[in-house]
Amino acid sequence: MFDFRPKVNVTVTQTGETFACAIGDSVLQGMLRLGRKGIPVGCVNGGCGVCKIKLVEGEISKIGPISRAHVTAEEEAEGYTLACRVSPTCAVTLAVAGKFEKPFTKGHAAQAGPSSTTP
Ligand code: FES
Repeated sequence: MFDFRPKVNVTVTQTGETFACAIGDSVLQGMLRLGRKGIPVGCVNGGCGVCKIKLVEGEISKIGPISRAHVTAEEEAEGYTLACRVSPTCAVTLAVAGKFEKPFTKGHAAQAGPSSTTP
C-alpha cells in the first residue's frame, strides 16, 4: 500500500544517511519503515534513551513525552531529544547522541574504510 503522506528528508550527520520521513511519524519510525539504519533503535517507546539525538538543523515537534531520565530540561533546550518521540516538520539534520554514540560512530568509521594518511 502506498503512503501518500507528505514526507521530509532526515539526515544523520555521523553517517551522511538521508531518509524520507512522513510528517506525523516519529523520526525513528520513519527510519525503521524504510529499513534504514543510522539511529540506534531500542524500545521505540521513549523508555530506554538509546535513540537520543541532537537536532542540528530544521524543526521537529513532540509526539510523546520525553523522559527526563534520558533528556534533561537543559539538554532539551539545547536541542537534545529522543528520535522515537519527535516528528520532523521540515527537512532536518540530526546527530546521534545516545549511549551508543561511540560504538555506533566507530563501527561506521570502520565500514567507511581506512583513513587516509599524510604523504
Ligand atoms: S528507542 Fe527507546 S527511547 Fe527511543
